[in-house]
Amino acid sequence: MRVLGIESSCDDTAAAVLEDHRILSSVLNCQDSIHAKFGGVVPELASRKHLQFINAVVENALSNAGIQLSDIDLIAATQGPGLIGSLLVGFSYAKAFAHVREIPFVGVDHMAGHILSVFLGEEKPTFPYIALIVSGGTSSIFLAEEFHQFRLLGRTRDDAAGEAFDKVAKLLGLAYPGGPNVSATAVDGDPRYVRFPRAWLEGKSLDFSFSGLKTAVLSHVKQQKMKNAGLQLSDICASFQEAVVEVLVEKSILAAQTHNIFTLVAGGGVSANKRLREVFTKRCHEEGITFHAPEPEYCTDNAAMIAFAGYHKFNKYGAHERDQDVYSRSQLG
Ligand code: KG4
Repeated sequence: MRVLGIESSCDDTAAAVLEDHRILSSVLNCQDSIHAKFGGVVPELASRKHLQFINAVVENALSNAGIQLSDIDLIAATQGPGLIGSLLVGFSYAKAFAHVREIPFVGVDHMAGHILSVFLGEEKPTFPYIALIVSGGTSSIFLAEEFHQFRLLGRTRDDAAGEAFDKVAKLLGLAYPGGPNVSATAVDGDPRYVRFPRAWLEGKSLDFSFSGLKTAVLSHVKQQKMKNAGLQLSDICASFQEAVVEVLVEKSILAAQTHNIFTLVAGGGVSANKRLREVFTKRCHEEGITFHAPEPEYCTDNAAMIAFAGYHKFNKYGAHERDQDVYSRSQLG
């Protein structure tokens, strides 16, 4: 079965073609340079750019796969969560495509795409597994029991991990999107330079909180400025990154141990972070847990994961009716 996946939940316009589980093409038009001057995504601009780019992105995905429109058997599009104006572009495009071609259509939860994105790599995990999904809008821990059977175990109570990276980047004067820039600046830094707070929360909570950490970085910057001391950017970035990574890794391991599960998966934009992957690999090895993460290009938003999740959703539940609407908050709990 050939599946066309479309993703437009935020500021990336993406399309991919999968033949069963094999990626034939994956194309992405990134809007980072458009939004960078505003320091974050401008929703109306993002949806207008999706409208402008979507046709070319889909055409490129088809031609890179060496196929034509008529070769597609199923179309899957991100239904939510995300920016409504952005979602509507990809979702309506996909519905119209399915209607004209008289093929089945399925809406996919973006989180489900991230939870399953690890299957796009060579090494596939086995169910059940714990999935840590960390992006610009989410920091959640799921128990994945099988395809499209997910249980939410913990979520952020305030900022998402990626949002914290982006906000800290902004207050340090680093360009948007902050995550990759903070991580690059941290490379030569000392992670023990400042002991920023770790929000473990009560008992064995699997929830996250990153707003206190962000405030602690801001206080440090203000104190240094009051002392007329220069900012040790690489040390601050390394110390901040270490605090985020430690909490993400230890809470994911706690989730695995609490539920007696021995496979752990990371997904979402922040899972591209090298230090996070390094610490996960080390700690999982120590705890006897197998760790998997997608290739970096499939950590951030992409349409291959939507096509993959759509294929399995269609196999399990069949096609969606054409009256489906988009949603801004994830339906996965
Ligand atoms: O999954 P994604 O592409 O989009 C959604 O938010 O759904 O994730 C983007 C987020 C941004 O906040 C970005 O700063 C962060 O992931 N990110 C990173 C890295 N690469 C992307 N954060 C830390 N380290 C990275 N290497």
